[in-house]
Amino acid sequence: DKLNIIGLCGSLRKGSFNHALLRALPDLAPQRMTITEGPAIGAIPPYNADVQNGDGFPPEVTALAEAIRTADGIIIVSPEYNYSVPGVLKNALDWVSRVDNQPFAAKPVCLQSVSMGQLGGARMQYHLRQIMVFLGADVFTTPEVFVGAGHQKFDKDTLALTDEGTREFAGKQLAAFADYIDRVSA
Ligand code: FNR
Repeated sequence: DKLNIIGLCGSLRKGSFNHALLRALPDLAPQRMTITEGPAIGAIPPYNADVQNGDGFPPEVTALAEAIRTADGIIIVSPEYNYSVPGVLKNALDWVSRVDNQPFAAKPVCLQSVSMGQLGGARMQYHLRQIMVFLGADVFTTPEVFVGAGHQKFDKDTLALTDEGTREFAGKQLAAFADYIDRVSA
């Protein structure tokens, strides 16, 4: 059976470079891995414990939690906002973290990011790793994928990932992530 990987994106905008990177990944993944986009996180309301304890979890949260639970691994592709994790992504993680038997526990997770600067979202990834410590996720370590100068790596019109070097190292990470999933789930 192929490894079922769910991709989540921390940017909601149509022209997102991070979303463009996520869309490129199925092509770069090893044969034995399928990558599909998880439920959109943009419609999840702001976390509110009164809502959770009143009406219960919003359906968007339940769907996301279920997708994470049934996946063999998660790949999160996100921009860096003010040196950290975008609020919409943190909000989705906060909701999912309150679900019974929260689904990130012992779940293999892999990170990628695109930014316009040289650091490629590195600071965001280290904050995201920190969040994943509390959730007990098995976060893959190296090779890391930080795509700097993002505006030069994608086709202006189609947003296809055109940069050969980026295609190569993103593919290498996915192959190493597949081996990592084998190791941690053995
Ligand atoms: C940014 N951007 C940014 N870039 C970066 O390298 N470090 C940062 O701390 C920030 N902070 C930041 C905050 C906010 C609120 C915005 C909107 C943007 C720039 C960001 O990397 C750029 O807009 C990317 O294009 C966003 O990713 P998507 O939407 O293209 O995927």
